[in-house]
Amino acid sequence: MEKRILTARFGKIDPLSIDDYIKNGGYEALEAAVKMESDTIIDEIETAKLRGRGGAAFPTFIKLKALVGEKEKTRYIVCNADEGEPGNFKDRHLMENDPHQMIEGMIISAYTTKAKKGYIYIRGEYDHSIAVVREALAQAREKGYLGKNILGAGFDFDIEIRSGAGAYVCGEEFALIESIEGKSGRSRPKPPFPTTAGVFMKPTMLNNVETFANIPHILEMGGKAYAKIGTESSKGTKLISLSGNIANRGVFEVPFGVSVKDAIAKLGRGVADGRKLKMVQLSGASGPILPPEKIDVPIDFDHDIGAGAIIVMDERTDVVDILLRHAEFFEHESCGKCTPCREGNLHLVRLLRKVQAGSATADDLRVMENLADVMINVSLCGLGQSAPIPLATALDGFGDQIRDRLAQTETKENA
Ligand SMILES: Cc1cc2nc3c(=O)[nH]c(=O)nc-3n(C[C@H](O)[C@H](O)[C@H](O)COP(=O)(O)O)c2cc1C
Ligand code: SF4
Repeated sequence: MEKRILTARFGKIDPLSIDDYIKNGGYEALEAAVKMESDTIIDEIETAKLRGRGGAAFPTFIKLKALVGEKEKTRYIVCNADEGEPGNFKDRHLMENDPHQMIEGMIISAYTTKAKKGYIYIRGEYDHSIAVVREALAQAREKGYLGKNILGAGFDFDIEIRSGAGAYVCGEEFALIESIEGKSGRSRPKPPFPTTAGVFMKPTMLNNVETFANIPHILEMGGKAYAKIGTESSKGTKLISLSGNIANRGVFEVPFGVSVKDAIAKLGRGVADGRKLKMVQLSGASGPILPPEKIDVPIDFDHDIGAGAIIVMDERTDVVDILLRHAEFFEHESCGKCTPCREGNLHLVRLLRKVQAGSATADDLRVMENLADVMINVSLCGLGQSAPIPLATALDGFGDQIRDRLAQTETKENA
């Protein structure tokens, strides 16, 4: 069931040794890339149908092409290693077990787009990841994979680490860019997109750790061979983070198309301690909450898998408790720049507290549904747009359980 491409070297190499990486095929893709034209590299990535692994599933070749097409010659490559979404921990695994493949992917992207400067934005809590990546960058510089005239191919590129202060919103591309610029992390209206006006308003290719890590493998095996892995809409493999009330938690690499149900049963070895499954949340705190009968769906970009978190909750879990905890998280993490998210999350918390206390009415529920609708449609960035998704999907899958709480309230109030 597992297909190990990005994780193939895990445990076999010392992540702090670039020599181990090189002995195991590392930097061969870069050596090949610098003998290729930009367009040929972009063609391979287009043929591979690589899509972003950070949640939005945007085709990577379009970003590369956009940068190449910009008149402005100062360009940046940014790797998003913020990984603040609860339930996701696969980027940390990638960085701590095999950091160079992400770095190699960034250097290939820089060569392709003629960018001279890169940033890896790592959340501050990931202190071990920061240490490993810092050492990997130093070794890459020493070997001539970073710096001036890389591999004698006449291009210069270097990478700097920026660490976040732990705000969830700083994983959102424009909030992250603002944070790199030294401002507080708040999103910007789009367009223009980062490929036109990103870091310091210059063209910027911003991608997830796993996306960059795929690039050397695509060049090594060729776009066509890569595109044979996975499904029609989703090519390659996906790293999934299995967590919650599951017997075997961890990060696993599977070809796209494996079902959520099988991943839980076979890789996660089912619900822990023989308990019954209550619900599964895909993508993380901002993802859909599904009842057991809806989890026989493929892991692919058509099914809201986000960055690949699968959170398993057993029969002891109360759906209202979970919704309230998520709403409190989003209320705390909202940057406050736009009204629907700032005020909407506040009200969702208040209303969910009422539901939990047994004092909510059917009108409160209608208000919550309307609020969710407005937030999804008019919030400025993905945080506000996705914060009500757990509520909206739980109302679908567990509506009776939520409404049961209201019925008791109304009976009490009317008595
Ligand atoms: C609130 C919020 C948090 C996000 N956090 C992350 C994150 O931690 N890592 C990530 O790669 N993308 C995150 N994203 C998605 C990024 O905005 C962006 O789409 C992604 O980094 C692009 O890279 P990709 O095309 O390789 O997926 C987040 C989006 C939102 C709205
Ligand atoms: S949606 Fe939320 S996090 Fe995003 S800009 Fe608006 S207030 Fe800030």
